[in-house]
Parts: sequence; structure tokens; C-alpha cells
Amino acid sequence: MDFEAELKATAKRIDEQLAAIIAAIEAETPEPLLSAMRHALLGGGKRLRPFLVIASAAMFGTAESQAMRAAAALECLHCYSLVHDDLPAMDDDALRRGRPTVHVVYGEAAAILAGDALLTLAFEILADPLTFADPLVRAELALDLARAAGSRGMAGGQMLDLSAGLTEPSQAETMRMQHMKTGCLIEHACAAGAILGRAGEPDRDRLRRYGAALGAAFQIADDLLDREASEAELGKATGKDLEAGKATLVDFLGIEGAREHLAALTDEACDSLAPFGERAALLRGAARFVRDRRH
Ligand code: IPE
Ligand code: IPE
Ligand code: MG
Ligand code: MG
Ligand code: MG
Repeated sequence: MDFEAELKATAKRIDEQLAAIIAAIEAETPEPLLSAMRHALLGGGKRLRPFLVIASAAMFGTAESQAMRAAAALECLHCYSLVHDDLPAMDDDALRRGRPTVHVVYGEAAAILAGDALLTLAFEILADPLTFADPLVRAELALDLARAAGSRGMAGGQMLDLSAGLTEPSQAETMRMQHMKTGCLIEHACAAGAILGRAGEPDRDRLRRYGAALGAAFQIADDLLDREASEAELGKATGKDLEAGKATLVDFLGIEGAREHLAALTDEACDSLAPFGERAALLRGAARFVRDRRH
């Protein structure tokens, strides 16, 4: 099976898990919060981060069923980050995954609360014994996700991203911002697989290095697509970064330079996997997908 077909097939099972998670909370969640959460979480999205959790865990013999809830927790957190990223106070976007954004449909207050509720739901899932029997593994997953998502990770990176229009960051500062806002969650995806698989330190480090390089590549691809792809291909508005004066590596490297850097980062990601040989075939496929993606 080629990589995209594998990603799609896994995404379908992730979607089913996410639907089950929503079904379990719906009786006690008031409207319109429930509908806003459903809109944010279900229907669309590549599901790349949860796929990476599952594929990384599989390298250490962990079954998809054992990795699925930790994978779903990360997707809840990612969807929260998108809902808040789209708010008027942040990127002010009206289209996401080919549909109107949560705040456009349900209003800003419900969008803020849906983000809050998805963020906390991620940690509720990780703490639940259903997710993994060993409480130490659950605690490690929660600790790693908290670090990746907080002020030293995604939220901090989003702050730097928003300040960038005012402070004109250097290339090195822009790379740091991208590592924090996007790289940290992708690195967590790979680290979570290693934690679930109880991998030893050297293998955890290899997966972290892979995830960090892949995360950097992912944001460069996103920035290139913002310049070059159409709204129909992406399901979100394009040309926004230039218009908003956002700092991206495309500004420093140009389109061609950014594309070369993207290819070098995906090679670097794959190099970290060398000791795993054929076991890492799916993760290598993911790196090529990130390099070549059009959506
Ligand atoms: C978009 O992430 C936000 C970035 C970090 C660039 P994705 O491109 O993974 O969005 P979905 O989940 O597929 O919609
Ligand atoms: C978003 O980066 C990173 C997040 C943490 C959500 P962007 O603002 O470039 O993501 P898109 O282009 O809106 O998906
Ligand atoms: Mg943004
Ligand atoms: Mg945005
Ligand atoms: Mg973008």
C-alpha cells in the first residue's frame, strides 16, 4: 500500500475513535459547546500527528489499539490549537478544512471554550486507565504533551508568531518560533510512540530527532503552500502570511531555497531512522509525504 493510502486508512480509524470520545461526553456537555467541539474535532484533517503516534509505537511492537487513545488525545490538542489559531485575535481565518471556522459558526465565546475543552479533554484521555494500563506510561505521556503544548512549546511559539509582525525576527528566531509552534507537537507524536513502546533512551532520542526535523519540514511546507497552493486544495485561506506580515522561512530563503531546505530537513529526519532499517519504512514515507504534500 502506498503511504497516502495507509494514512487515509489509519485516519478513518482515528476518526472513529474521535467520534467515540465525543459520544462518551455528549450527554453531559451543554450546547453549543458540544457542537463546536464536534465541528473542530470531526470531519476533515489529515490526522498526521495521531498517525505518527501509531506508526512510531508500531516500531516497538505496540498494537494500534494500544496506541489509539494517546493518538486521539494529541489530535484533540491539535484541533484546539487550530480553533484558537483561527480566532479574530489570532490569524482571523474564516475557512478551515474546507468548512467555516468554529468561531464563524458558533461565535467567539463558544470557540474559545471548545478550544479549552479539547485541550483539557486531551489530558483527561491520557490520564484514563483505558488509555494504557501502566500509570507510569500515562504520566510520561501527559508530561511530554504538557511540555510540548505549553509556554515552552506550541503556545509559546504562537506568541512569538503573533509578535513577529512587530519585532522583525531574525532567521534563527523564526526557526525557533516554528520549532515551538509546530515542531514540538510533531516531536511529541513520535516521542509518544516511543513511550508507549517502552523504547530505551537511544531509540527515544532518535525518534525525537526525527520528529523535530519533520516538524520543521512540516511548517516550511505549510508556509510554501500558503504562498503557492489554492484555497480549494488546502481547505483554508491562502496568501495570508504575506498579507499579515508573518515571519516565515520563505522570506529568508526564497521559494527555491525554502524548497531545498525542506528536502534537506526530510533527509535529516530519515537519517535519524537509519538504525531502525525496514521497521521505519512508514516513518520514512511520512517524511516524503511532508516534503511533497499539496494539502
Ligand atoms: C495545520 O496543521 C497547522 C500547522 C501546524 C501548520 P495540519 O496541516 O496538520 O492541519 P490538518 O489537521 O490536516 O487540518
Ligand atoms: C499554526 O500555524 C500553528 C499552530 C500551532 C496552530 P499557521 O497559522 O500557519 O497554521 P494554518 O496555516 O493556519 O493552518
Ligand atoms: Mg497562526
Ligand atoms: Mg493560521
Ligand atoms: Mg499556515
